[in-house]
Amino acid sequence: MVLVEVFKNMVFPYFFWYNFIGDKMRLKNIKGAYEKLLASGYLIENYKEYKNNFNSLFKEQNELRIEIGMGKGNFIVEMAKKHPHINFIGIEKYPSAQMFVLNKLEDINLPNLKLISMDAEELDEVFGKEVSCIYLNFSDPWPKKRHAKRRLTHHSFLEKYDNILINYKIIQKTDNRSLFEYSLKSYVEYGLKIEDLSLNLHQDNPKDNIMTEYEMKFSSKGDIIYMVEVIR
Ligand SMILES: C[S@@+](CC[C@H](N)C(=O)[O-])C[C@H]1O[C@@H](n2cnc3c(N)ncnc32)[C@H](O)[C@@H]1O
Repeated sequence: MVLVEVFKNMVFPYFFWYNFIGDKMRLKNIKGAYEKLLASGYLIENYKEYKNNFNSLFKEQNELRIEIGMGKGNFIVEMAKKHPHINFIGIEKYPSAQMFVLNKLEDINLPNLKLISMDAEELDEVFGKEVSCIYLNFSDPWPKKRHAKRRLTHHSFLEKYDNILINYKIIQKTDNRSLFEYSLKSYVEYGLKIEDLSLNLHQDNPKDNIMTEYEMKFSSKGDIIYMVEVIR
């Protein structure tokens, strides 16, 4: 096993690997991913310095929306293109996934888009009450009960969101029914209201739905996509 790892790291040092461990996939580190993101000008490096002042980083002072766990970034890029008068920050804990967004930004300049490489655990240390909407797209389901605290819709995360949202608003999409049910329960227990809900988003065919990479993958297999919007 050790020899296999050594071989892979010798032969493919600049590529990422998906390791299959049972039914799970693990994204391996891509060398230089963070540096590439930084060189693009989209990444906010000293993000802790901008608390309550993130809008100063943008050309226009507009409402600020964030996506947590942006992955390869199709959603946040297309949203920024479609809504030039809204500012967007895409958050992702793995630069090796986030750096794929750069392919989508090669021939365009989006002054209303920024990126942060960080864990959502830090969210309320980083942002003040300055965010108008949080997008949770195909968040990791963490199916084991002992990992429930890592789910981005766990009570502890809903509290963090409370500290940064001006008016509470989360829009979540997922293909994972268990995570969806868990999240609905968590929202209601936290005292939030369900403003909009779809038990089959693609059948309901919302005209302005922007797909994420995971959404494209799962919906092309025929999987159902769930959506919920919650407010206070
Ligand atoms: C299943 S992928 C979905 C990616 C993308 N939203 C999509 O729909 O294609 C979940 C992403 O969330 C990121 N993520 C999970 N937990 C996170 C956290 N606590 N903070 C930041 N990113 C996180 C993962 O690294 C991963 O890229």
